[in-house]
Amino acid sequence: MPIGTFCYPPAMRITVVGAGYVGLVTGVCLARRGEHHVTLVETAPNRLRELQAGGMPIEEPGLAEAFAESRERITVVGSLDQVEDPDLVFLAVGTPISDTGEPDLSQLQSATADLRRWPDVDVSVRSTLPPGLSVRLPKLLGRADGARVSTNPEFLRQGSAVHDYEHPSRIIFGRFAETTDAHLAVVERVYAAIEAPRLHVDVAAAELIKNVANGFLALKLSFVNEVAALSEEYGVEVTEVLDGIGLDPRIGSVYMRPGLGFGGSCLPKELQVLAAAGRRRGLSMHVARAISQVNVEQQDRFVRQILAEIPRDESRVGLLGLSFKADTDDLRGSPALHVARRLLEEGVVVTAHDPAVRPDRAVAAAPGLQIASRAEDVFEGADAVAIATEWPQFATLPLPRLRDRTRQPILFDGRGIIAAADAVAAGFHYRGVGRQPRSPIVVEAR
Ligand SMILES: NC(=O)c1ccc[n+]([C@@H]2O[C@H](COP(=O)([O-])OP(=O)(O)OC[C@H]3O[C@@H](n4cnc5c(N)ncnc54)[C@H](O)[C@@H]3O)[C@@H](O)[C@H]2O)c1
Repeated sequence: MPIGTFCYPPAMRITVVGAGYVGLVTGVCLARRGEHHVTLVETAPNRLRELQAGGMPIEEPGLAEAFAESRERITVVGSLDQVEDPDLVFLAVGTPISDTGEPDLSQLQSATADLRRWPDVDVSVRSTLPPGLSVRLPKLLGRADGARVSTNPEFLRQGSAVHDYEHPSRIIFGRFAETTDAHLAVVERVYAAIEAPRLHVDVAAAELIKNVANGFLALKLSFVNEVAALSEEYGVEVTEVLDGIGLDPRIGSVYMRPGLGFGGSCLPKELQVLAAAGRRRGLSMHVARAISQVNVEQQDRFVRQILAEIPRDESRVGLLGLSFKADTDDLRGSPALHVARRLLEEGVVVTAHDPAVRPDRAVAAAPGLQIASRAEDVFEGADAVAIATEWPQFATLPLPRLRDRTRQPILFDGRGIIAAADAVAAGFHYRGVGRQPRSPIVVEAR
């Protein structure tokens, strides 16, 4: 239901709880619009310190610049105790998965408990909630009902989060039966200048929209990856298969790129959350579980293919990329990291380069990993080089020159960013996901 008749409030004091990828982007983009004052609340000491010093603790294109531009309209604090009554609170704390596969709600519980100090302040939750949790929000916030509570799930993609905030595909408002139009008008006010379809739905539907959207994206990727493996086995170029099916408008070609698997903090988690939510109600959730299994298998298949082509002893692999996707420094659920760890377990010396991941974080995540400060250096003495993250700069490396630095010129393109013909022309044996192996033509000396 559109909130057409309510008079929008003037400039607001907005508090964003949780300054991670979602909270920081939300808060900084809001402040940059120049109208509202934003207070970011962050409990992690390192992130807090860096933000208070004017630095940007995460890598996201355009975010550091936007933060610098809007610094005077942003206050960064370590606790809600330091915040005066705000007009609106956005909750953007993490909702990761625990070791048992159940949602870890500790951040949400602690943040909502802290918010009980303001029983009348408007609160909207941007964090992704597992099915069935939204209805508990008023109680978690210590309120009798959800009159001034809503959800507003975030759909940004890391790597283009600032752009996605400004140009969202849709804005979803989840409301309780009692949520007032006045509350929704306050939340809508934040998006006044943003053009996007708006959907007002029940809170339970809003949380499912978010979970299912991620699940469906993962479904496309895992299916395409399964088809890629099948194509490899049957001597087919998967790109031809995808071109052929993509011409059917019911199928299309968007988000249908084969690769060594998906990662990040959202897609893998959402599948587990969906499976667990269904299981609790007696549903088998075959599809959600299969998507995850295919994704793990895809990463292991890539590792097996590398191991099959390198010597058993004292082998060296160069790894291009560590983050779970390009334009982010995020290692959460990263397939590249999985590949690095599996190779290290097999006794391979792995030298990696990533343009954004800080070396100390990479080595902490994969002990024993060697870090190269330049992409070119991972080729040095390598028995194989694998592209694990689709950073665009990896597509333009001077391959002919780098061939001579390898011990064995084999290139595993886990992200499909190099034209096989170029790699072969540069003297590399090329292996791509869903592609047929291609080797340089060797001219025998007479
Ligand atoms: N990362 C994405 O691409 C993305 C996209 C859409 C939705 N989401 C969802 O948004 C939520 C946040 O994701 P994220 O990637 O920003 O997570 P994140 O881990 O990067 O950020 C969460 C931040 O909240 C802080 N925090 C925890 N408890 C706090 C408290 N009580 N007070 C103040 N700060 C607190 C943490 O220290 C952390 O910095 C999750 O529910 C996630 O599923 C994430």
